Amino acid sequence: MGILTNFIVFEGIDGSGTSTQIDLLKKKLAGRETENRFVFTCEPTGEATGRFLRTILSGEEAAEPETAAFLFAADRWEHLYGKNSVVKALNAGKTVISDRYFFSSLAYQSAACGRELPKLLNSLFPLPEKLFFFDIDPALSLARIAGRSVTEIYEKRDFLEKTAAEYRLVIAEYEQAAPGMKIIRLDAAQSMEQVSRLIWEEIGA
Ligand code: TMP
Repeated sequence: MGILTNFIVFEGIDGSGTSTQIDLLKKKLAGRETENRFVFTCEPTGEATGRFLRTILSGEEAAEPETAAFLFAADRWEHLYGKNSVVKALNAGKTVISDRYFFSSLAYQSAACGRELPKLLNSLFPLPEKLFFFDIDPALSLARIAGRSVTEIYEKRDFLEKTAAEYRLVIAEYEQAAPGMKIIRLDAAQSMEQVSRLIWEEIGA
C-alpha cells in the first residue's frame, strides 16, 4: 500500500476531540506565511456521497450497516480522487489534514458489521504519511458528547466501547504492518491546550 506524502489524518472515537483540534490548528496557522500551505478536509465529505451519509448518521434514513460501509468507502473515493480531491491538493504542493480517514471505517464499521467487509473495501486506499490517534476512554468521550444538542446513531455507550476497542487493535496492527506511516498516539484525556501543543510540535509551521 502506497503512502501519500504530506497527507495527515486525525482519528478517534466521537468526543475524542479531533474536530476541536483541527479548529485550534487553523487558528494557530491563521495569519502565518505558511497558512496557505495547508488544506483542511474531513470525512464524511461535503459532497453528495457525504451528505447522504449524514442523513444515515442522523437516523433520518435507515440503512444496513454493510450499506453504510460501502457508502463510507464510496465517499472516501470521492474525497481522494473527486473534484475537490486530496490528491489534487497534494499534487499542488499542499499539506492536507483530514478529520477522519479509512481507519474510522476499520473501527466503526468493524464494530457495526464485522471486520471482513471494511477491511476489503478499505484495502483500496493509500496510507497517510502521519496519523494522529486520539486515544480516550469512551466514558470520558461520552461525557463530552452529552453536552451536544444533536446526537448521531453511533454515539451510544456500547457501540463506542466496541469502536474504541477496534480502533486500538487497528492502530496496533498498523504500527506493526506499516512502519512508513508515522503514528502519533495522543492521550486525548489531556487538556485541549496540551493536546494542541503536541500536535503543533509535530506539524506546526
Ligand atoms: P464526525 O462526527 O467526526 O463528523 O463523524 C461522523 C460520524 O461518522 C462519526 O460517528 C464517525 C462515523 N464514521 C464512520 O462510522 N465511518 C467512517 O468511515 C467515517 C469517516 C466516519
